[in-house]
Amino acid sequence: MEEVILLSRRQVDANINRLWELHDNYGKDSSFEFTAAQKIFAIFDGNIIVAFGILSMPHGFCWMRNAIVDTPYRGRGYQQLIIEARVKYAYQRGIRKVTTAVDQMNVWSLNNLVACGFRFVKGGKLHNGHLYQKLQINL
Ligand SMILES: CC(C)(COP(=O)(O)OP(=O)(O)OC[C@H]1O[C@@H](n2cnc3c(N)ncnc32)[C@H](O)[C@@H]1OP(=O)(O)O)[C@@H](O)C(=O)NCCC(=O)NCCS
Repeated sequence: MEEVILLSRRQVDANINRLWELHDNYGKDSSFEFTAAQKIFAIFDGNIIVAFGILSMPHGFCWMRNAIVDTPYRGRGYQQLIIEARVKYAYQRGIRKVTTAVDQMNVWSLNNLVACGFRFVKGGKLHNGHLYQKLQINL
């Protein structure tokens, strides 16, 4: 099974161009920024990042965003691995609820989140013309 790695600051700095490349190819959020407070979980093929996902934990509120799997690596369950790694990391730090929001048209992400134990909750939002469903897992 592929290993999911929590990137150190040094690894983030060394791979920042690749992270932006994946983001720009697949991301929809033009206001997105990589910040030092984010925990970035990634899967490598050799020394190239092929998938990543972000966990933010400001003041105990914990949410996941921006899971991206590069096209040739899709269909291998990488998104679920990255979801599970983030949830486990949060749990080990005393977090008991993780929240995320997903474009309702993104059936792949919705399926993967539900398969990992997330459930739909109230509070979806319109963003850039897309309806985002809110999902949570209680740990
Ligand atoms: C959503 C995403 C992370 C899923 O990644 P994944 O790890 O490949 O998901 P899975 O392994 O569960 O793939 C499930 C199936 O859907 C297919 N699939 C996944 N994403 C697809 C996409 N965007 N277009 C077409 N097919 C896709 C896979 O090939 C696979 O098919 P199979 O079961 O016949 O092999 C990935 O599609 C992606 O990076 N999309 C762009 C960014 C994005 O939408 N991120 C989510 C933000 S919340």
